[in-house]
Amino acid sequence: MGLGVRSRLLHLKDFLWDWRLGVNTFGFSDSGVADGRPYSPASYRTLRQVFDCVGLGAEDVLLDVGCGLGRPVFFAGFRYPVKAGIGIDANRGFIEQARRNCDGFRGARDNLHFIECNAVQYDYSKATVIVMYNPFGADTLTKVLARIYESLQANPRPIKIVYLNPIEKAVFDRAPWLAKTAEFSPAQVPQLDIGNRRSYPKGQPAVVFYTSV
Ligand SMILES: C[S@@+](CC[C@H](N)C(=O)[O-])C[C@H]1O[C@@H](n2cnc3c(N)ncnc32)[C@H](O)[C@@H]1O
Repeated sequence: MGLGVRSRLLHLKDFLWDWRLGVNTFGFSDSGVADGRPYSPASYRTLRQVFDCVGLGAEDVLLDVGCGLGRPVFFAGFRYPVKAGIGIDANRGFIEQARRNCDGFRGARDNLHFIECNAVQYDYSKATVIVMYNPFGADTLTKVLARIYESLQANPRPIKIVYLNPIEKAVFDRAPWLAKTAEFSPAQVPQLDIGNRRSYPKGQPAVVFYTSV
């Protein structure tokens, strides 16, 4: 899974959050999925900023698309009164590890679910807040946004989408059913992640928030 003691020391607060939650979400590893980006967890501090901005609440079903070892789902389940937290990932090993994390999780785990699934095939009709941390390239993202839009036809509801390290932001900007509501600059979220921190294209925001219109 990559990243050992040195990384935990460099990211001590993330390590302490993992310990508090009873999970191990550190790592950096190729996903092995076509058009997929490697696993690298968002920092807990960034997740707190993002979930506070979204106003994650009791009616929300949080879905992390490309959840890896599950950090955002565990953090949401621990700190916010969500109805459910769901993580999907196309990499079986990551999902197995996320489920093992469930066993040690110190919060309520009954409403947390980890599903092995390619995001292109997933049925999005239950999700109200969708988090994507740079999970895949533009081809996959285009198909995934089409699936999410389909789910709005099947189950009309307001949804919010948060896109972290938004390398393929142009795909979102082409979707007429989505409106940008906020964004964070890299300076606002200096701890975004372990692997990609220095790789933002110049002028790119660090996080973009959208809502369905
Ligand atoms: C940058 S990591 C994000 C990890 C996690 N969301 C977090 O913030 O801690 C991207 C994840 O997307 C997953 N992924 C890539 N392509 C995918 C696809 N087509 N469907 C589902 N998951 C995918 C990878 O396996 C990887 O775990």
